[in-house]
Amino acid sequence: MEQTYVMFKPDCVERGLVGRILSRFEEKGLRLVAMKMLRVTPAMAKVHYAEHVEKPFYKGLEEFITASPVVATVFAGPEVIRVVREMLGATSGLKAAAGTIRGDYSASRQMNLVHASDSPESAAREIPIYFRPEEILNWDPSLACWYQAPGEA
Ligand code: CMP
Repeated sequence: MEQTYVMFKPDCVERGLVGRILSRFEEKGLRLVAMKMLRVTPAMAKVHYAEHVEKPFYKGLEEFITASPVVATVFAGPEVIRVVREMLGATSGLKAAAGTIRGDYSASRQMNLVHASDSPESAAREIPIYFRPEEILNWDPSLACWYQAPGEA
């Protein structure tokens, strides 16, 4: 089953929105398979955001992402990478459509509350930065049969 790395950023933790936003993913029927709270170090930030390190906004991004704890998670499900990205909306909360998570709760380009992998390659690169293989649980919710028909998963 496809997996995606979803990180509730420091603004989300500081604003007390983790539970509310996590609920949206749970209510959608996405399967939570790993979760922990941690502080992102500058070294981890440089690995996670390697493609942005040379960009003008990187210094501010690193200060932001290391400023307070984050909640790191992995969700699993069919097409889960695309589904989570669509639930988040556009990168900037100022541009994200109403009804998306960023559209409803963020008014910032940088403080956009939640990060999610944008491709299978990104997910495969990002998940091991935060989780050891044994921290990702392989489990089947009892109600899975009421979220998807046989053969859909
Ligand atoms: P994320 O999806 O985690 O990926 C890269 C992050 O960099 C992004 O969310 C924002 O938090 C931040 N970001 C992207 N573009 C900008 C920008 N133009 N100015 C400041 N921060 C940005």
